This record gives sequence, C-alpha cells and structure tokens, in this order.
Amino acid sequence: MANSEGSREILQACLVLGLLALINVVRCDNYPDFQSRRSLIGETIFDVTKFGAKGDGITDDAMAIIKAWRAACTTVGAAKVLIPRGDFVAGEVVMAGPCTAQKPITIEIQGNLLAYDDMSVYTRGAWIMIEKVDGLVVTGGGTINGRGKEVWQYFTKGSPPLPVSLILQSVQNVKMYNLNLVDSMGFHSKVTDSTNVAISNMKITAPGKSPNTDGCHMSSSRNINITDTVIGTGDDCISIGHGNYNILVARVTCGPGHGLSIGSLGKRPNETSMKGVTITNCTLVGTTNGARIKTYHASPQIEASSIYFQDIVMDRVKNPIIIDQHYDSKRKREPSKVKISDVHFRNIRGTSISAVSISLNCSSTFPCQGIELSNIDLQPIAPIGPLRSSCSNARFFVTGKINPTAPASCV
Ligand SMILES: *[C@@H]1O[C@H](CO)[C@@H](O)[C@H](O)[C@H]1NC(C)=O
Ligand SMILES: *[C@@H]1O[C@H](CO)[C@@H](O)[C@H](O)[C@H]1NC(C)=O
Ligand SMILES: *[C@@H]1O[C@H](CO)[C@@H](O)[C@H](O)[C@H]1NC(C)=O
Ligand SMILES: *[C@@H]1O[C@H](CO)[C@@H](O)[C@H](O)[C@H]1NC(C)=O
Repeated sequence: MANSEGSREILQACLVLGLLALINVVRCDNYPDFQSRRSLIGETIFDVTKFGAKGDGITDDAMAIIKAWRAACTTVGAAKVLIPRGDFVAGEVVMAGPCTAQKPITIEIQGNLLAYDDMSVYTRGAWIMIEKVDGLVVTGGGTINGRGKEVWQYFTKGSPPLPVSLILQSVQNVKMYNLNLVDSMGFHSKVTDSTNVAISNMKITAPGKSPNTDGCHMSSSRNINITDTVIGTGDDCISIGHGNYNILVARVTCGPGHGLSIGSLGKRPNETSMKGVTITNCTLVGTTNGARIKTYHASPQIEASSIYFQDIVMDRVKNPIIIDQHYDSKRKREPSKVKISDVHFRNIRGTSISAVSISLNCSSTFPCQGIELSNIDLQPIAPIGPLRSSCSNARFFVTGKINPTAPASCV
C-alpha cells in the first residue's frame, strides 16, 4: 500500500514535471538561446528568420531584425546577426549598444534589405541606425536598397531631409565592407560622433538625377577610412563635414554625382573645426566637381586645415579643382568665417568640361592661406577652348608644373 502510494506520488510528480517540461519547450521557442546556433568558429548566429523575419518581400521584418540584434548584443561570447538570402522589407531599424557580446559583433547581410515605403515610420532621420556600439563588423555581400525611387518626387529643397539608409552614430572600432547600397531615400550612409571606422569595398549606386543622395557623409568623427569603393549617386560622392579629424579616402571611384567634398561647412552655428583629411588615388568620372571645398556665408568662426587632395584622375569633370566659400549663399550677405588653410592639390590630371578648371574663391573676411597647387595637368574637352584658372582672396603657391597656369595673385 505504502509502496503503491509512493509510486503514485512519483507518477504525479513526473506528470507535473513532464507538463512543466512541455510548457518550457513551448516557451523556449521564444527564447534567444534556442533560436541561435553555433557556427564552425564558435560564434553564436542570430538568424533573423528565427526571430520571425519572413524575407518575403512584403512583410515588415524590422521587429524581427531588432530582436535578433538585441539577442546578439546581450549575449556573451562571439555573436553574429545573420540576414540570409531573401528580400527583407523593413521599416526603421535601430541597433543600439552598448553590448555584452564579445567584440566585434558581426552583422552579415547576405540578402536584400528593402526599405518600407511608409515614410511615417522613420522617426530619427534614418532607416537603419547603428549606435553606441564598440566593436562591429558589417558585411555579407548583400544589398541595402532604400527604394528612393518611390519618394524622391516628394523631395524639395528646404524640406526636411529624407531618411539616410544607414547611420553609424557614436560607434567605435567598426569595419564595414563588401556591401551594396542602392537608391537611398536621403544620403546613402552617414558616420557621426564616431571613432576608428574603416569602410571598404562598398558599391553605392543611385541615378545621377536623384536628389541629395550623397554616398557617404561624415561629421564629428575621428580616424575614418573609406577605401576601394565605387560610388555613383545624384549628390556628393563623399562629403566630409565639420568636426572631423584624421580622415583617409583612398582608391575611390566617383561618378555620376557632385564629386569629393570637404563640407559643406558653416551652415549651422554649432559646427566645429575640422583637420587632417587625405583624399588620394581616386578617380572621378563625369562629376560636376572634382576636389572641392565648400563653405557657407554667415558661418560660425571655425577652421578647415591640413587637407590633401593627391593623385586624382579627373575624367570629363566640370569643376576639377574648386574652393567655393560662397556656397549656396545668395541670400546671406555676411562672408564665410570658415578659415581654410594648409590645403594641397597635388598630382591631379585628366580632363575638364568647363573652362575654369582651377577656381579658388575664398572668403574676404578670412582669405585662404597656404594653398598648394602642384603637378596639375588638366586638358579641355573640345569645344570649350583653353582652360583657365581663377582666384579671389587666396594665398597660394605653385610647385612643379601646372596646367592651366596659376591664377594671378589675388589677395
Ligand atoms: C586607416 O588607414 C591608415 C593607413 O593605411 C591606417 O594606419 C589606419 O589604421 C586606418 N584606420 C582605420 C580606422 O582602419
Ligand atoms: C547642432 O544644431 C543642430 C540643429 O541646428 C542640432 O540638430 C544638433 O543636435 C546640434 N549639435 C550639437 C552638438 O549641439
Ligand atoms: C596610390 O598609388 C600609388 C601609385 O600607384 C601607390 O604607390 C600608393 O601606395 C597608393 N596609395 C594609396 C594610399 O593607395
Ligand atoms: C566667386 O563667387 C562669387 C559668388 O558665386 C562670384 O560672384 C565671383 O565671380 C566668384 N569669383 C571668382 C574669382 O570666381
């Protein structure tokens, strides 16, 4: 009797345990550790399809991507968020740190990410925002398609900018490579308030007529490299804004678009100085500008210095070498107070489609200082006739041969 009662108790206990186990299995379905798997090299893979992403080209998979990111970010050990092959439509995606996972976390985009076409979901000026992460690799060979074709018609000058496809904000130690950015709504990519970011082997493409679709814009950042990248858009290829230090752009091909720009600088009162930019071994094809510095009138008093444009090939560029301190400033009378100095245009060759191929047009308040023109060989594309240079408010010096000949002294 006692024995059979004992076994009944055990049986009951087992049933309860079994039930609990069953409930647990069901619950585990939603638990990150059961949705991830380990890769051969021991990192845990957080596949967005295991977090509910459909990848069917219709469903908004943003929440699933965010959940996969959160699980990866808060894990221990090495972690990878995987967006596999498929068409993943997503609205606003914020991937924020700080993370506990081993550094760096990887985001591997193999498939196509497609922006959701309802503009009201983008609350922070970005489609995909990665912020406050230290240690990150973003790669995978996939495509980030902003589907700008559906919204560019709504863009007018003066209206708020359309969402940037990918913003890296307050990040450190980031490598981004081997990705395609296509048809962003606003800028394709932006790096702000960040340190140690290496971007390479990217392909960024949008029609030459698409509005404000800069390839990559950076501001308030330090130690940023963009290398071995091809960019053709409707606006600046790469634009290097205020507050940047130690920026390298190398082996980048641009076109169509507005070329390689420092600036624009001085639009807002809280902008800060920038220093140390090298743009080298680049090719510009059919762009409206080549090597350009642009600043606004009525700017705060800031400096832009230690800037090198060197070993650059211009292929049918409209304004190959240009400093414009009257940028977009018709209605502001006060001259620019951005002090430009220590700027080097070296080893620049190729063709120009407009006659004034070197233009140094600086501020009357703060003339440009220490501008070097060295080994420049630009040729006109018929029928524009011989090339010229022009200058106002600039102190420059010439080394080696330059063609067209230097402007007359103009300070
Ligand atoms: C950028 O490139 C330079 C020169 O190759 C290198 O010394 C530096 O470490 C790179 N910076 C980053 C953030 O990768
Ligand atoms: C600078 O001003 C702009 C608006 O003009 C604002 O969006 C931005 O947050 C400000 N930046 C800082 C660092 O205060
Ligand atoms: C630029 O090209 C020259 C000549 O091919 C090469 O010697 C140099 O290392 C290159 N520099 C960079 C940063 O790519
Ligand atoms: C400088 O730019 C101003 C404003 O666009 C223009 O009126 C002026 O002719 C330019 N000067 C030179 C020397 O190109």
